[in-house]
Order: sequence, then structure tokens, then C-alpha cells
Amino acid sequence: MTHSLLILPGDGIGPEIMVEARRVIDWLRTKRGLNFTLYEGLVGGAAYDAYGVPLSDNTLELAKTVDAVLLGAVGGPKWAGVDYDKRPEAGLLALRKELELFANLRPAICFESLVNSSSLKPELVSGLDIMIVRELTGGVYFGKPRGIEDLPDGSRRGINTQVYTTPEIHRIAHVAFELAGKRRGRVTSSDKANVMESGLLWREEVTKIARQYPDIKLDHMLADSCAMQLVRAPKQFDVIVTDNLFGDILSDVAAMLTGSLGMLPSAALGVRGGAAMYEPVHGSAPDIAGQNVANPIATILSLAMALRYTFDCGEEARMIEDAVRSVLAGGLRTTDIMQPGKARVSTTVMGDSILRALDHVSAT
Ligand code: IPM
Ligand code: MG
Repeated sequence: MTHSLLILPGDGIGPEIMVEARRVIDWLRTKRGLNFTLYEGLVGGAAYDAYGVPLSDNTLELAKTVDAVLLGAVGGPKWAGVDYDKRPEAGLLALRKELELFANLRPAICFESLVNSSSLKPELVSGLDIMIVRELTGGVYFGKPRGIEDLPDGSRRGINTQVYTTPEIHRIAHVAFELAGKRRGRVTSSDKANVMESGLLWREEVTKIARQYPDIKLDHMLADSCAMQLVRAPKQFDVIVTDNLFGDILSDVAAMLTGSLGMLPSAALGVRGGAAMYEPVHGSAPDIAGQNVANPIATILSLAMALRYTFDCGEEARMIEDAVRSVLAGGLRTTDIMQPGKARVSTTVMGDSILRALDHVSAT
């Protein structure tokens, strides 16, 4: 059985963290006998510089044929002046849309050895395990009309449209309820039903789908309140299902609870049998790019998610997670998760240590 994987390192710290993920892939090949066919391509600003577009047709076609895509990060100040539809972010959004990756799974898990890295009190985050299910191909990110127009009086108007249809809401709700069934059986749906019709529809339709899952407890929370509850008492949540924009915001909040954005992986899944894309939640961090200080863990954990959700290699996924846990327990830290008394290490040394821990984990 061959697993095909397209690697898109992207911009900023993307290439250097991807080097570490690739070393884990090499380990899986030699030590676990997994058969990967790897492809590599450009996306984001790197693709813009090379081809004048943030996602070339060739790369998109390749993404459609492989089992999974592993993406680093896109964007940076270098491309701030580029037209909207050619910005690095547009490449990422096009991949999501064209591959129909409507379900974005963003787990926020607090590793025990990092409870003190969180900006919240340790007792609030110890044992934290939340899954944010973000709708990824609809809402205001893609709604039409959109644009900036000139008005006769010389002023300008910017327009975006928040729009959801029932099929879009139903399919993401199913993903959330099914996941909750394998977890602690609770779904919190987050919307702005108090001000937006699309939010009201969201709430009504999620409630309808919930009837098919009598064992799951559903509650609704306004998105602003949800943000507040996430920093007040995050452990009340199991699965949070929400739209594209609120999911973007709430997942950054949830990520920070765990200590650092540099820790969190994500999976973007589409229709059954289709491609999937895995990427760290963090961005391209241009300020620290090329310095060998970035945290490669979110990317390595994204690879673990690919093993679990696409390649059906749950055992290897667990090994990677265990290896990360043991390296952290051993006191090694990249700058973003540095704590007093711990050893600050580079991107490369963090990668080395995870590989060594993998050898150890697989031998026991
Ligand atoms: C994310 C990012 C993207 C988003 C950007 C880079 C377009 O913030 O994946 O959370 O807004 O979805
Ligand atoms: Mg975001």
C-alpha cells in the first residue's frame, strides 16, 4: 500500500519546519516500513514569486490526485501590496475550496508539561482537550458579492457576504456530532443568531441534525460569549462547531490556551474518499523565519493527524504524539514555549530529539 503525499512548505518558517516533518516521514519509511510517494510544490508567496500566482494549476492538479497534502504556512509582509486574488492566502483558500475541504478539525490539547506555558492558570488548562470543528469552504470567506467599489460621492465601499445553505450546515454538523460520539459526547454550536439571519439558520439546522444523535448533548453559544468562556473556563467544552470566520478566531483563542500556537495541528477534510489537507494552525511567522528557532511540533503533529485520518496508521500517529510528549517532559523547549529552568533548543534539535524519542517509543 502506497501513501501519496504532497508537501507544500509555503512561506516564512514553513520550509524549515517542513524539513523536520520530512525527517519524521523518513523515519516512518525506514523504521515502520510505510510506503510514501512524496511530491513537493510551491504555494503562497513562494509560488507567487516563481509563477505569478499563489497556487499554480499544476500544483492544484497534483493536490487533487494525492491522498493528502501537508502544508507549512503561507504569507508575509513581502506580499502585502499584491492584489487580493494573488496574495499568498488566496492560494491556501483556493486549495481548501477546490478540494472541497469543508471540515476543519482543530484540536486544542494541553500537554501536561506545558500547563505553565499557558497564559491561563494551570488548573484551568490542565487536561484540556477541545476539538474545534470549523466550517472551511463557506461563509464570509467565500460569499458573494464581495469587493471594494467606488461610490459616486468619491467614497468607497467594502463588501463581503456571510452566507450559508442548509447542506453546508448539515454536513459540518454531522462531522461534529460524529466526532463527539467518539469523545465526551458534547457539542457546542457557536453562532451570532442574535444579529445574523445566517446565524439563526445555522442554529436551527444544527438543532435539526442533533435529533439524529440522541446520545449527544447539544448546546448553543453566541460566538462572543464562546470566546469569553474559552478563556474563563475552557474545560467546559468538548466539541465546538462553528462557521468559517468564528472558527478562525475561536481556534486561535483555543490554541493559545495550550501554551503556544506552535503546538497545534489541524486537519481539513472533505467528502469521503477525496483529498485531505493537514497544516499547523500557526502562520508563517516571517519575523523569525530562517533563524532555526521555529517550533516544528505543530507540523509534526499535523503529519500524525494525516496518519490517523487519511492513511489509517493510528499506531504510528500515537507514536509521534507520544514522542512529542516525552520530549516535552524531558524539558526541551523551542523559544515559543520556553519556561524558566528548561532547555531552549533550535528547530533542528527539537526535530532530532523527536526522532530519538520515536526510536525509543517504537522499541517499547
Ligand atoms: C487559518 C489562517 C487562514 C484563515 C489565513 C492564512 C487565510 O488564519 O488557517 O486560520 O484565515 O483561514
Ligand atoms: Mg487563523
